[in-house]
Amino acid sequence: MKLRLHSLLLIAALGSAHVWAQSSAAVEVFKSPYCGCCGKWVEHLRQNGFQVNTHDVEDVTAARKKMGMPDRLGSCHTAKIGGYVVEGHVPAADIQRLLKEKPKALGLAVPSMPPGSPGMESSKPIPYQTLLVQFNGSTRVFAQH
Ligand code: CU
Ligand code: CU
Repeated sequence: MKLRLHSLLLIAALGSAHVWAQSSAAVEVFKSPYCGCCGKWVEHLRQNGFQVNTHDVEDVTAARKKMGMPDRLGSCHTAKIGGYVVEGHVPAADIQRLLKEKPKALGLAVPSMPPGSPGMESSKPIPYQTLLVQFNGSTRVFAQH
């Protein structure tokens, strides 16, 4: 897994970043087959121009662990795009910004399932944050919503 990530980064660094970004533009979503809000989030991504492939997994926690996303940041689904891990109901705009800015990081997370986040539409939305997750599991605020 780590090797693969490094080779992807290497390809990006070698100047084929543009081609690479296009060929890996699909979001691979790992979700529980019993979760409705995951499907709504996938719909949100598609409406914002992302190509999305979904994979139903019985054990979302195991999938999250395999991708290196800390359990305490967990939500109902885990995704991969462009070498990054995206956990939970992260707004499409944040993912687009991530792919544009390309910070050195594991990826993004919106822990738990805040009402009002994409796919969790609610009449009682609450403020929430998108976190940038480092490889060592530490986080900083990437966006306020
Ligand atoms: Cu959810
Ligand atoms: Cu979900």
